[in-house]
Amino acid sequence: MSDATQHVSMESLVSLCKRRGFVYPASEIYGGLNGFWDYGPLGVQLKNNIRDSWWKCTVESPPIGPDGRPVSIVGLDSSIIQNPKTWVASGHVGGFSDPMVDDRETKQRYRADHVKVYVPRDGQGNAFAFMPGDEAEAQKKIKRGAKRNPDDYDVLNLTSLALDQYGNIVAPSTKEAGTLTEPREFNLMFMTYVGALADEDSKAYLRPETAQGIFLNYKNVLDTMRVKVPFGIAQIGKSFRNEVTPRNFIFRSREFEQMEMEWFCHEAETQKWYDFWKDERMKWWRSLGVTGDKLRFRDHEKDELSHYAKNGVGTVDIEYQYPFTAPDYGELEGIAHRSNFDLSAHQEHSGQNMKYHDEATKEKFIPHVIEPASGLTRAVLVVLCEAYREEEVDGVGGDKRTVLKFAPHLAPTKVAVFPLVKKDGMPEKATAIYDDLRTEMTATYDAGGAVGRRYRRQDEVGTPFCVTVDGDTISQDTVTVRDRDSMQQEKVNTSRLKTYLRDKLAAGV
Ligand code: GAP
Repeated sequence: MSDATQHVSMESLVSLCKRRGFVYPASEIYGGLNGFWDYGPLGVQLKNNIRDSWWKCTVESPPIGPDGRPVSIVGLDSSIIQNPKTWVASGHVGGFSDPMVDDRETKQRYRADHVKVYVPRDGQGNAFAFMPGDEAEAQKKIKRGAKRNPDDYDVLNLTSLALDQYGNIVAPSTKEAGTLTEPREFNLMFMTYVGALADEDSKAYLRPETAQGIFLNYKNVLDTMRVKVPFGIAQIGKSFRNEVTPRNFIFRSREFEQMEMEWFCHEAETQKWYDFWKDERMKWWRSLGVTGDKLRFRDHEKDELSHYAKNGVGTVDIEYQYPFTAPDYGELEGIAHRSNFDLSAHQEHSGQNMKYHDEATKEKFIPHVIEPASGLTRAVLVVLCEAYREEEVDGVGGDKRTVLKFAPHLAPTKVAVFPLVKKDGMPEKATAIYDDLRTEMTATYDAGGAVGRRYRRQDEVGTPFCVTVDGDTISQDTVTVRDRDSMQQEKVNTSRLKTYLRDKLAAGV
């Protein structure tokens, strides 16, 4: 059997997601829309399970703080569209942009900071640009077009090249040099109009992060919820970014979901809470079944810090080794000290007092913020990558199976019930068992085809248990329970079945 570190091909994963109802390209019958995805019946269940785990561990049952007591965090669900002054104050209107370059010939657009270039070490001839993952195409151009060896080239970032070198760069999807424009800043916010008139005064934005809705409601929560600093406000919801190059399936999309928590604390305690949340967040990712060496922390360099984090104790990313970044890693969650940038900015722009009055110390201050910000849709991708296996099935001469080894609490369907054959009272018995189980756990009923085939179908969607009603059910009141991961089968009395499954699911199989 293969182990957890096996390489997952994105092609196989994307194909399985489509075939088995996890993720479909959005508006596919019209040719799709780049950067938008729809979550199918199993995808939305998986996404909801991850969302529920985050909400439970953050809001309903938050972790124990450094003083031995549970920390205090409340939930929120704010509007996607807010007063546009929000985004002026937050800095998004002025600064939420990415550098992009256009290819004048093909009209393709690229994030300048993502483009890599093969640059000839001897300075002779053209350089060849490519997007990470597509280096083979550039190598072909070097070998066939330039009749040279890729080893004679250095791989550099496009942004490290001087503008006067652009004339010699062959763009990723062209053959001739000189078609790339200079990098230009491109604001990522989607704009819309509120009301009947499409004029300057009715201009508004779809939120590019859920965080600002939290800052806008900080005063409301403080005044209505009897919370005391330090405390947190958590929110899960959609965010929108007009990404220059949406890529890698659902990793970078234009519409996605975030799970963010703003932790309000005194400036003197920011280091303590930053360290605390770093640890807690890593623990949560591990609780989803993500294995150790595929997750890592990466501290932000000074020059990548966001405008709100410049004077903070730091920003760290939790990164995952995605199939398309391996052996390198890509961002999964950011944990940032946002200082008191946002509340101060909203105080200044709105004229509302954002100070907290500490009754014990009589001090008045604008709290600082530690923010763990993660992507829910990106979490779906990580959980799928982590669960995906192609295995040789022992003892069945090279037979293969594809299996999603989800942690049981994340599995979209917990149990499948089969009648062995469609006769001898088995369908009736299996239906009764299914009707009973479905009141407590997500269950499915499948009577179609050989049992082996039915097992494979459930393996592919990650169902931890299959229950087969057979001859023994009728004569001895037992069913056969088959475990997804070990493929072992066990006879269980029907009267014990629900408790058996409940215990196994709670114990993580
Ligand atoms: N409030 C801070 C903030 O939004 P961010 O690093 O820009 O920080 C947080 O976003 C998380 O949201 C990222 O770590 C990632 O998981 C997710 N995310 C950001 N842009 C995304 C996109 N275009 N598609 C999918 N997920 C995205």
